[in-house]
Amino acid sequence: MSENLARQFLIREDITFLNHGSFGACPRPVFVAYQNWQLELERQPVEFLGRNLTEAMRQPRIALAAELGTIEDNIVGLTNATLGLNIVAQSLDLKPGDQILTTDHEYSALEKTWAYVCRRTGAEIVVVKVPLPLQTETQFTDAILAGMTERTRVLFLSHITSPTALLFPIERAIAEARRRGIWSVIDGAHTPGHIRLDLDRLGADFYAGNCHKWLMAPKGSAFLYARPDMQGLIRPLVISHGWTEASGRPGVLGAFGNSPFIDELEMQGTRDPAPWLTVSAALDYRRDNDWESVAAHCQALAQDTARRLAERTGLAPLSAPEFCAPQMVAMPIPDCDVAALKLALYDKYRIEIPVFRWQDRCIARLSVQGYNSRPQMDLLIDALTDLLALG
Ligand SMILES: Cc1ncc(COP(=O)(O)O)c(C=O)c1O
Repeated sequence: MSENLARQFLIREDITFLNHGSFGACPRPVFVAYQNWQLELERQPVEFLGRNLTEAMRQPRIALAAELGTIEDNIVGLTNATLGLNIVAQSLDLKPGDQILTTDHEYSALEKTWAYVCRRTGAEIVVVKVPLPLQTETQFTDAILAGMTERTRVLFLSHITSPTALLFPIERAIAEARRRGIWSVIDGAHTPGHIRLDLDRLGADFYAGNCHKWLMAPKGSAFLYARPDMQGLIRPLVISHGWTEASGRPGVLGAFGNSPFIDELEMQGTRDPAPWLTVSAALDYRRDNDWESVAAHCQALAQDTARRLAERTGLAPLSAPEFCAPQMVAMPIPDCDVAALKLALYDKYRIEIPVFRWQDRCIARLSVQGYNSRPQMDLLIDALTDLLALG
């Protein structure tokens, strides 16, 4: 990747930033568009928030829906995937004894969300262990299907997992859930801008994704998708101007003329809508800069780096390449003091990368984005070789 591309980001030059996965990073032109929205708001808040917002919020919905393989009515802009998934988890009508089926690779905040829902409803969580290394689609689907029972009401899966950076082949599990009348709720925090999405074809009942990670929109931009026949189940966590007495009745529109699904969730009191409004600029930036090619280059770099490190550690990857998130890879490292290693990588080498313990493994999770370079990968390999005494 060219130096030019790195200069288009605001990431500090003294840091080798290998953790795009946690919070993303916004290219300068997108960040400028974001600040322009904020300036426009400050110049006439009443016109912006009071008169024009509903229509303005619609534009990113149209642009993003086209990118996600759905229509604008099926998605609503929110601040983050956690919020979207909380809205779903707390909307579903669960009873004592109902089961929520999930995997042992889920993001900790969402594990807590479901634990909270279970505490309130008396439902229970059933965790399926996904076999590693993940080599075939069947291995995954069989494990999920084996966990389904008469009592399963919800299937909750990450599409791309956080601790293990795996791309789960979720299609058949979703189809089977639908056949059995189980709600499918998908955590797509890492997928928009990372893998091609076709939400209507995927067929999940609910899907939340972040725009502030791989789509490179500003922090605080995300969406919740719900299939048309599921939208009526959704209840807002915050009641505001978008709600009406008639909400929830068939055929009744929300207070701003959209569906209740959109109006009730979009309006949550005064908030900064600039991150969501900038989603269109992020999509334009990616198109104008041929981001598909950039991403393909990043994927090759990530896989190559993981292979080189594996040669030194002798540790097997967590999956076959096709089940690895394209621009992220969880690299197993020898057993070590993970906190000390993370600190040393930062203090001695200025490398920002998550290093953690997951189940019985130690993992360094590498993210590669357009601002990263091969020399940075060399530095990472050298640093890990030094600090883990792999030489
Ligand atoms: C799999 C997964 N789900 C959910 C989240 C939460 O994202 P956010 O904090 O933007 O809601 C993350 C964050 O990294 C994640 O990795």
